[in-house]
Amino acid sequence: MTTLWGGRFSTKLNEQAWALNTSLPFDRRLALQDVRGSIAWAGALQKANVLTETECEQIVDGLQAVEKEFAEKAFVFAESDEDIHTAVERRLGELIGAAAGKLHTGRSRNDQVATDFRSWMLDSLPLLEDAIKGLQSVLLALAEAHQTTLLPGYTHLQRAQPVTFAHWLLSHFWSLQRDRERLQDLRARVALCPLGCGALAGTAFPIDRAALAQSLGFDMASPNSIDGISDRDFVAEYLFCCGLCGVHLSKISENIVLFTTAEFGFIELSDAYSTGSSLMPQKKNPDLFELARGKAGTMIGLLTGFMATLKGLPSTYDKDLQEDKVPVFQATDTLLAILPVLAGALETMNVNKERMSAAIDASMLATDVADYLVRKGMPFREAHAVTGKAVRAAAEKGLSLDQLPLSEWQALGPFEADVQQVFEVLKSIEKRNAIGGTSPQSVKNQIRIAKLKIKGD
Ligand code: ARG
Repeated sequence: MTTLWGGRFSTKLNEQAWALNTSLPFDRRLALQDVRGSIAWAGALQKANVLTETECEQIVDGLQAVEKEFAEKAFVFAESDEDIHTAVERRLGELIGAAAGKLHTGRSRNDQVATDFRSWMLDSLPLLEDAIKGLQSVLLALAEAHQTTLLPGYTHLQRAQPVTFAHWLLSHFWSLQRDRERLQDLRARVALCPLGCGALAGTAFPIDRAALAQSLGFDMASPNSIDGISDRDFVAEYLFCCGLCGVHLSKISENIVLFTTAEFGFIELSDAYSTGSSLMPQKKNPDLFELARGKAGTMIGLLTGFMATLKGLPSTYDKDLQEDKVPVFQATDTLLAILPVLAGALETMNVNKERMSAAIDASMLATDVADYLVRKGMPFREAHAVTGKAVRAAAEKGLSLDQLPLSEWQALGPFEADVQQVFEVLKSIEKRNAIGGTSPQSVKNQIRIAKLKIKGD
């Protein structure tokens, strides 16, 4: 195999060693970024008088031809291509001859790969953001439609207090909003251009790195060549952003899996987003949500695995850093696969409002009973204890809390006949009217702000 570095070696690389060393199977995804980086580098070399105008033109024309081959999926890789950078340079040589050998002047694959990868990520960030936004839009539309749909809210997976379904849906909107904002914040740390850092010490030619960075769509040139070629914080952050988004999708999924059980019966998934059993003809399974839940675990592993790779490294480039690409591609592909499916599944699911509101029992309004006493002047701690006694009295009599006779209430505290009104679920919800509460009024306000967030960027 011919390599870019064969000069000082007497034999070619062992075949299995070659297979271990090569990154082409995965870094071919950086093809377009690599070609564009090289086009910009050729321009920078010409401005630095390293290339003549003719040489630069030849190289740029050649690279554009290579780019076209990639775009048309006509590019043929050779067995000797160690990585995408080698492949592009090899093909350029075939197309334009000797001038191709001048392109790599003053740069290294170390600054080249870091540049390509950051460019790739700059292209990928908006794709992820859009996919997240797609799911947010579905949650928002559902929330608009379910502003008075009642849902039992749970803590510890025990019935706790009633909320509206809209409020619950929006809780997931906001976690996804943070995911999207995190990706937007990350952009600034990705948009530093390492090209011109050379192998580690900087380039020995008078390259205008600031202009080069700009021409490639970066905000600025990385300020330190050693850091420039070895910094992979952006990779760890990206994996964290993906992993945390995965965790959020897992939470939505776990809820949906529960809600679709016969025991809950709150939601029925459309057939287009359910799967069956090979044995049990009656089964309708929420596999897609389970996959989303399961893949969150895999994505967390991608982050922790890569952090461990970084941990032991000494300064500058080490081949360990080649391990950065696969997890990023995998996390990206995973999220881009899950997000639209969850969006479609939620958009088409059937919501059983009757089952949801029937699952709200009177004991879920015990806090409202305590609040009733507070409004009559009793300290909350005391009101909590009195209400607790009422809950116990009802349970002992086999009654639900709203069935407790007035005489029993009055034996416990300053209750009057109007205590019955406490058990109107919608009234309870309407009281939670402060910012962020579950009242339809507060939720309407949330919807308004959520719409601005979706439109705003
Ligand atoms: N395939 C390598 C990577 O992904 C490219 C950089 C190689 N640099 C080197 N010094 N061997 O990191």
